[in-house]
Amino acid sequence: AIDVSTLSKQTGYTALDYGFVNTAATRSDITYIDGESGILRYRGYPIDQLAENASFLEVAWLLIYGDLPTEDELADFDERIRRHTLLHEDLKRFFSALPSGAHPMAVLSSATSALSTFYEGKTDPDNPEHVETNIIRLLAKLPVIAAYAHKTSIGQAFLYPDNSLGYVENFLRLNFGVMSEPYEIDPVMARALERLLILHEDHEQNASTSTVRLVGSTGADQFASVSAGIHALSGPLHGGANEAVLQMLGQIRESGESVQRFVERVKNKEDGVKLMGFGHRVYKNYDPRAKIVKQSADEVLDQLGVNDPLLDLAKELEEIALNDEYFQSRNLYPNVDFYTGVIYKAMGFPTRVFTVLFAIGRLPGWLAQWREQNLDNKSKIGRPQQLYTGEPERRYPA
Ligand code: ACO
Repeated sequence: AIDVSTLSKQTGYTALDYGFVNTAATRSDITYIDGESGILRYRGYPIDQLAENASFLEVAWLLIYGDLPTEDELADFDERIRRHTLLHEDLKRFFSALPSGAHPMAVLSSATSALSTFYEGKTDPDNPEHVETNIIRLLAKLPVIAAYAHKTSIGQAFLYPDNSLGYVENFLRLNFGVMSEPYEIDPVMARALERLLILHEDHEQNASTSTVRLVGSTGADQFASVSAGIHALSGPLHGGANEAVLQMLGQIRESGESVQRFVERVKNKEDGVKLMGFGHRVYKNYDPRAKIVKQSADEVLDQLGVNDPLLDLAKELEEIALNDEYFQSRNLYPNVDFYTGVIYKAMGFPTRVFTVLFAIGRLPGWLAQWREQNLDNKSKIGRPQQLYTGEPERRYPA
């Protein structure tokens, strides 16, 4: 890699790189991806080993602090997060002020911004105590906000967190529990969700993480940066793809169109239609996360006793695409979003909540990347250049 950061000053040279295809904006110790070979590691640990054996909070600690936690460190981290799950009662009014049909991602990002107003004077990026406490606050409170966004979208009352429960179990209860009825945690569902969340925890400099870093580079606090990251994640080319995949599968099924015909439309780029959940900027091989999700989709649906024809449709679509020259020549493989939606649906999450689940999974990565940048004395305000292509100077008619 060539460090060009001082080149333009010395030579007047500016690199134009649409979509930052070939430009690194930072050095990072957190996540390693080899897109040609389909490898993903967090702090050196292969993703499949973490997804199989670790807990969500253990991986969060690993990403943020660099090594696996000791038993005591993990217990303390977990305990501090449990103690911070409650939201200020005033924040609840925020949810009732929004339309009942509001998209849960819009609710999540705006409520994350709103959350910062309760911590004025306690969010200074130069104060290590503030930074560490806000990592705990965000990890503790965002799942609660996410569940409230879900509950708002279906018109149900909010539950208070039950801090005797683990992170994922608490989240499930907040989403699916109803007032005055005990909620029984399904361990199969809890472990399946935990595994999916681990797979999403970080993915180096993707669009939302780069957004978090860019906003953070201005000196903005973790709340503002994470809220901006949630907005970036909402787009269908990024995290919003998991919702778009389910919509696509549903439309194919309802329209009665054959999968082959749909694939032809994609290849002919008719109306800009894409095979959602396929393709990736970095992976030019099978996304290692998608491999794990695909394997667990059958297993989880089976264990939950759900038979969803959309899973068969997704498999048929994958089979046709992987054997087609259009997709082969462009190295287009299923990405992490291709099969997650089918599992979230089997768990009972509405389609509009899928990207919120991605955000909760990605939160530790955003926090780790923000913190790494904040501690890096080489980091500067992010400020891309442009090549001006507009009019030369013009005179305003007098
Ligand atoms: N369906 C059909 N064609 C595709 C797809 C797709 N899903 N993805 C890429 N292509 C085609 C492009 O049209 C282009 O074809 P061309 O050379 O004939 O013009 C070629 O493959 C290269 O694609 P780019 O758009 O240049 O690739 P880029 O790296 O910029 O985009 C992206 C990556 C955004 C993920 C793209 O593959 C896409 O839009 N996929 C669908 C949305 C999606 O699933 N997003 C989730 C990504 S993973 C994540 O964020 C968690």
